[in-house]
Amino acid sequence: MCGIVAAIAQRDVTPILLEGLKRLEYRGYDSAGVAVVDNGALQLARAVGKVAALQDTLNNTAVRGALGIAHTRWATHGEVSERNAHPHVSSQRVAVVHNGIIENYATIREMLVAEGYVFVSETDSETIAHLIDFELRRCPSLLAAVQAAVAQFKGAYGLAVMALDTPDELVVARSGSPLVLGLGIGENFVASDVAALVPVTQRVVFLQEGDVAQLSRETWQVFDAQGEAVERVVHEASQSDVADRGGYRHYMLKEIFEQPRALADTLQERISHDALLPQSLGPAAEKLLATAENVHIVACGTSYHAGMVARYWIETLAGVPVNVELASEYRYRDVVVPSNTLFVTLSQSGETADTLAALHFAKSAGYLATLTICNSAQSSMVRESDLAMMTRAGPEIGVASTKAFTTQLISLLLIAGMLGKLRGRLTSAREAELVSHLSKAPGLVEDALKMDKAIQALSEDFADKQHALFLGRGTQFPIAMEGALKLKEISYIHAEAYAAGELKHGPLALIDEDMPTIVVAPNNDLLDKLKSNLEVVRARGGQLYVFADADTGIRSEPAIRVTAVPHMDDLIAPVVYTIPLQLLAYHVAILKGTDVDQPRNLAKSVTVE
Ligand code: G6P
Repeated sequence: MCGIVAAIAQRDVTPILLEGLKRLEYRGYDSAGVAVVDNGALQLARAVGKVAALQDTLNNTAVRGALGIAHTRWATHGEVSERNAHPHVSSQRVAVVHNGIIENYATIREMLVAEGYVFVSETDSETIAHLIDFELRRCPSLLAAVQAAVAQFKGAYGLAVMALDTPDELVVARSGSPLVLGLGIGENFVASDVAALVPVTQRVVFLQEGDVAQLSRETWQVFDAQGEAVERVVHEASQSDVADRGGYRHYMLKEIFEQPRALADTLQERISHDALLPQSLGPAAEKLLATAENVHIVACGTSYHAGMVARYWIETLAGVPVNVELASEYRYRDVVVPSNTLFVTLSQSGETADTLAALHFAKSAGYLATLTICNSAQSSMVRESDLAMMTRAGPEIGVASTKAFTTQLISLLLIAGMLGKLRGRLTSAREAELVSHLSKAPGLVEDALKMDKAIQALSEDFADKQHALFLGRGTQFPIAMEGALKLKEISYIHAEAYAAGELKHGPLALIDEDMPTIVVAPNNDLLDKLKSNLEVVRARGGQLYVFADADTGIRSEPAIRVTAVPHMDDLIAPVVYTIPLQLLAYHVAILKGTDVDQPRNLAKSVTVE
């Protein structure tokens, strides 16, 4: 998704802006641009494609300056083109970069056209540049013009603005799209993600909703939505805000292999040797969880799949009815909220527009409380929820989510157990058993990662395939969905997942030797049913690839290739069976030569609707 970097310094800021943009590349984008003000001139460079292409463009120009704004764009309004790339400029004097969507841009654009403004792009963002220029004609300062402009916007924005006539001033604004200030010595910076600032400063300020900030080289001041000057806390960005590939070929592979550590970190202080510790969620948590009679889980993408697994766990362990829904659907229907319902959002980034909108709705919809399970401590969802449980995956850079998913799963199993405990459904013996399974998860995942070589060999069978079918039952059905999502995201092979019992209701028609069927088969109560489903596929000439517990008795034979998964309790199996599916998608993508960490058309953090 779009990224912003801006700087006001006493040196040329273009290298800082480019380095910042490179650090935001993982978010996904299709074009990039930079504008600087220097020596009475506003200069602009934009390029379609990667930041490297922008760098090439800059190498051939004299775009240099001590005040600058830069952007990576992920197209929403208007095609991918240089003309639509940011920064957008008005009257050769105001330049703007924008993340988000201005929903009422058409009305504002009409007014500005009537005022004589000529639009050169198809973007909503160009409207912002012209409106600020328009306001600047009647406002005493750039700050006042930005404040007057943002008051007219409906939608979401993170903005950085500069003007030719005010070379000592950078103005930024945030509403629904994150922005962070970076404080230097005699220089200040802004970015949409702290990762872009780490090379220049560790001292950061997270802007809050509705904030507008004015930065000079020596000073910074934040104003709230009412225009009042406000104090904002200065944080120290930690090393964990920075990420590198650490010797791995791709971030995704590194993140897959980090899962044992991430799971162990996520469990820390939330379990003792034989008990769950719900108080670790904060002072209000125990009472709220004990009162919950229903749970609504809302999320997008991979996080939604984690929510689907949680439904099985929470209903089993806590006996509480659970509804799991895609945020983009939930936010636009008439939701009935039964009394004492806990509202849960799941999100790696904590900034996904649909999930955040659902949370905003939920806050006034009569829920008992809102809980977010999130991987980003400074995110909007964490700030705006009553309770937060942090997944401690660390920065996840690969667009395809891996460690964020398994740490969400382990967090949800913790929550399911805590609900069961506080609602008196889980005996102490069962609680101790659950804790023992939880604490084995990092080791089991470590063992599952040893399947890497075997899966690499397996992946060769998939490289020339156009389609794949994933099957699972019970908690493994959402895991099959996640496996299919991973494969399509990074290898571009069309993949679908079905609950194995649904096979006979349609997908069976697709089975032939060109449609590999991948099956997740732990040794559980549903095994016999699953085995019958496999026979049905085999009888139709299908090729089966089964990840099976050695105790299942499923053996490799013609048309069935079995890869053994270590034995484990069924409760923890969704976490562990995810690993081979992640590795399979990774190795197939390598064979296909796709861009593993930044797959085409996708973004890491989707902050627009
Ligand atoms: C994007 C990412 C997915 C992610 C989804 C939800 O589509 O590419 O990996 O699952 O957003 O993101 P969230 O940050 O809310 O978990």
